[in-house]
Amino acid sequence: MHPPATTPTSSTASISSSISSATPSGHPDVLVIGGGIIGLVTAWKAAARGLTVAVADPAPGGGAARVAAGMLAAVTELHFGEQTLLGLNLASAGRYPRFTAELEEASGQRIGYRRCGTLAVALDADDRAHLRELHALQTRSGLDSQWLSGRECRRLEPMLAPGVRGGLRVDGDHQVDPRRLASALLIACERAGVAFHRGWAKRLTVSGGRASGVELDDGTRLSAGQTVLAGGSHSGRLAGVPEDVLPPVRPVKGQVLRLRMPDAPAGGPAFLSRTVRAVVRGGPLYLVPRENGELVVGATSEELGWDTTVTAGGVYELLRDAHELVPGITELPLVETCAGLRPTSPDNAPLLGPSALPGLHLATGHFRNGVLLTPVTGEAMAEALATGNLPEEARPFSPARFPAAAVHGPAGARVPEEQPV
Ligand code: GLY
Repeated sequence: MHPPATTPTSSTASISSSISSATPSGHPDVLVIGGGIIGLVTAWKAAARGLTVAVADPAPGGGAARVAAGMLAAVTELHFGEQTLLGLNLASAGRYPRFTAELEEASGQRIGYRRCGTLAVALDADDRAHLRELHALQTRSGLDSQWLSGRECRRLEPMLAPGVRGGLRVDGDHQVDPRRLASALLIACERAGVAFHRGWAKRLTVSGGRASGVELDDGTRLSAGQTVLAGGSHSGRLAGVPEDVLPPVRPVKGQVLRLRMPDAPAGGPAFLSRTVRAVVRGGPLYLVPRENGELVVGATSEELGWDTTVTAGGVYELLRDAHELVPGITELPLVETCAGLRPTSPDNAPLLGPSALPGLHLATGHFRNGVLLTPVTGEAMAEALATGNLPEEARPFSPARFPAAAVHGPAGARVPEEQPV
């Protein structure tokens, strides 16, 4: 996706020319279009397999991860009908401890992985019924989740509103800081010799029926043995990609707030010690407290195309609902508001691996689970790029599950727009 206008991280700021790092060659094994966390983890893991790799992105380390809260919520974000995705989510959550250690070692940066658990609470009888159904689904799915009374919830998190009616304690749903994750991946890529081309991908180039690389908006042509389209929401509109290969991803806007919590009094409780979630007026709300005192409150879910405006209404609703859940929140400094776009596929699951166009792979459509799925995506994509085969656990997420006619209508009915990615 287009990264929002953000301050470059110190590592991106160090990239002063259009190409940085040790350029592997004029024709790397792999060219990744998109330098968000999905593109970067693909590049890093592919380089670890001995492939020469380049990334095209005007501001690598940006993208949806600049906005995301970083919940690793395989269990508390379980939805009916998403059992297959649950398997991938759990596999990726289980990899996080080792992935964190490897990435922190490779980058020299901490990524804020915090094994804090999650509490999902109900504010009224409807929420309670909803949570009871979720609990039943979790139990049927063999997941670890414990029902608590309102009083037990408040004993765990004393800042919760007195009206909380009950909740689910899920000790296995943790968090990571997505901005730190992106920065660390960028550094790990640079150290692994990944080359960065700082420009928008304007058009995929195809030669002899095979993806051959990309043309950037400044006219630069990059060629590679294999190309990975990891452009977030924009992956679905890159010019030059044949109609029947374009991934069916669309943007779903999320607005998010960042507040600052006070330091915990000596020996006293933290403002919040774990992620707290609720469904308020039918919409999911979450409060993610970081060790450094940041509190992330999210998120709206809006089908508004490419709009990333932060609106008064969005901020109002988030604060109103968060205040119902944790009344003391209105005392906290509001540090930042932002909005991003979740790349969303028709079944809310990612598209991973080889596409119908030889030489072109997809790594997109991660919707609500981009941060959670980063470790497993990196491994699956590296395996596909190195061997031509997706690992078993990723096969249900092959792009082949979306026949073009079902997604785009009859062949030729839609002409891709000329859009940089
Ligand atoms: N996974 C949280 C969100 O997408 O809002």
